[in-house]
Amino acid sequence: MEPSLLERYNDQIALEHAAERAYLQMAAWAAAHDFNGAAAWFRSQAAEESEHAAVFTEFVLDRDGEVRLAALEAPRADFPSLVAVFEAALEHERKVTASIADLYGHAQELRDFRSMPLLTRFLDEQVEEEASVSTILGELRMVVDDPSATLLLDRDLPGRRSEDAN
Ligand SMILES: [Fe+2]
Repeated sequence: MEPSLLERYNDQIALEHAAERAYLQMAAWAAAHDFNGAAAWFRSQAAEESEHAAVFTEFVLDRDGEVRLAALEAPRADFPSLVAVFEAALEHERKVTASIADLYGHAQELRDFRSMPLLTRFLDEQVEEEASVSTILGELRMVVDDPSATLLLDRDLPGRRSEDAN
């Protein structure tokens, strides 16, 4: 694999691990504030991000590239509200989407056609991820002044998967 492309794949692996840790931290925040539905939802998001990192790792190894894990910053831990947690989650998903799009563009410039199916799959998945987080955020904003509605919405979250979005 071309060195500049390899570097971008390693950056992407780092970003997926950072997303995993951001979601684990959000899960901990949610559990600490008795939003147990959101906590379960964030834990399953974290597991998905770990799986994404594993898929990119395997791809790099299959292409005889060297995988180098990066040092990661501590994720954000302080949030004023559950709405703020989901705002941060949406921001994170958008960052991941932009990063995969950049990677796609770079692979295309290098005519690295074997990257395309993998990256297309991830770009498709990001559409669902963003839609899923954005829907939850919209619903949370609707009920923001109603604790019992917020609690009901929280209890509904574990049953939702990103595939259900839209
Ligand atoms: Fe991901």
